[in-house]
Amino acid sequence: MSHRVLTGITTTGTLHLGNYVGAIRPAIAASRTPGVESFYFMADFHALIKCDEPDRIARSSRAIAATWLAAGLDPERVTFYRQSDIPEIPELTWLLTCVTAKGQMNRAHAYKAAVDAATAAGEEPDAHVTMGLFSYPVLMAADILMFNAHRVPVGKDQVQHIEMARDIAQRFNHLFGQGRELFTLPEAVVDAEMELLPGLDGRKMSKSYDNVIPLFEGGPKALQEAVARIVTDSKLPGEPKDPEGQALVTIYDAFATPEQRAAFRAALRGGLSWGEAKQQLVALIEGQIGPMRARYDALMADPAQLEAILQRGAEKARAIAVPFLKELRAAVGLRPYTASAATAVAKAEKAALPVFKQYREADGQFYFKLLSAGGELLLQSRGFEQGRDAGQWVARLKREGWVADAPVQREASDEVISAALAAFQAE
Ligand code: TRP
Repeated sequence: MSHRVLTGITTTGTLHLGNYVGAIRPAIAASRTPGVESFYFMADFHALIKCDEPDRIARSSRAIAATWLAAGLDPERVTFYRQSDIPEIPELTWLLTCVTAKGQMNRAHAYKAAVDAATAAGEEPDAHVTMGLFSYPVLMAADILMFNAHRVPVGKDQVQHIEMARDIAQRFNHLFGQGRELFTLPEAVVDAEMELLPGLDGRKMSKSYDNVIPLFEGGPKALQEAVARIVTDSKLPGEPKDPEGQALVTIYDAFATPEQRAAFRAALRGGLSWGEAKQQLVALIEGQIGPMRARYDALMADPAQLEAILQRGAEKARAIAVPFLKELRAAVGLRPYTASAATAVAKAEKAALPVFKQYREADGQFYFKLLSAGGELLLQSRGFEQGRDAGQWVARLKREGWVADAPVQREASDEVISAALAAFQAE
């Protein structure tokens, strides 16, 4: 069976170079691997948790969708969709919410961080906590379990959420699976690369540190300006420089071939100025990002095309989600009344089987008889000294059907007796 990989990006901003190198680029490469089925989506329901600016959410969703496609994602090859186009996801969230322990959600990092911040500010612990923030891991579990993803590439900060999704899946399987694994247990994949790209100041590139290099926004000029702000040491042009541990060099590495990496290091050791090095970095990045930016701008200028791609993606996703949710609803007991009637009839039919009865008569001997489902006598045995012998004949008749030398009196037609015995073999 093929392997399912799934990941989402929350739609509250635009993407930077670190998102591209750490998430988008490896995800697109993985989507081209044979035997891998990829599911990538805009997590816009998640965006509502931390953002109450409708225009920002709408703009971000569109920009992130355009970014994926501009970077080379093939929507024919993967399932690429907006979370909010799949109403089965919030419905599944509720089914999962009902089996999720509140105590476990109390321990979620995002919630605990909010409580710690409020407490530190002398406020009520839950002062800024919505139910959306509190239940965030359950929504994320629904994203993942809806498509039975095996692997979920995420940053380190999300690993706990994947573990929670596993726990929730396990509990649901246990309660409702009747021995079946309704949900696949997902695994987090934390690529070393996910954490790799440093920002302008050498710390991890992140919006919250205000140290990002924009991916497409602002064009080549913004790229150039950001690179100019990368912190280096203060060695002068001509002075030999140690390339190791320099953010500039690590960012260069993320776009360079092994040969380019070696040449860049050699040049720095040979005295290349930081200014010159920055220009080389801009040229390297722009060579790869530039053509994508052109596609990005074209997609942003054509929302109808983008919308059509996402609608098609939602169709593909729902072709999986709709029938699966139907199964899950039935598993928890949300069934059409006609379906439960059918179950009751099936049970009644199952109950209506012929029966062997074993008993002892006043003569001290052991007997058995076969009765039809309706209670008519079909076979009557002779008497046995030992109850065990009677039992062995019953077992043999159940197992083998009619046996020519069975010590019984036939009380019905051959067909009726054979059909009754056949019912035991079908059991
Ligand atoms: N919560 C994730 C983040 O902030 C985004 C996300 C939402 C996600 N649903 C997901 C990631 C499902 C992986 C799988 O980064």
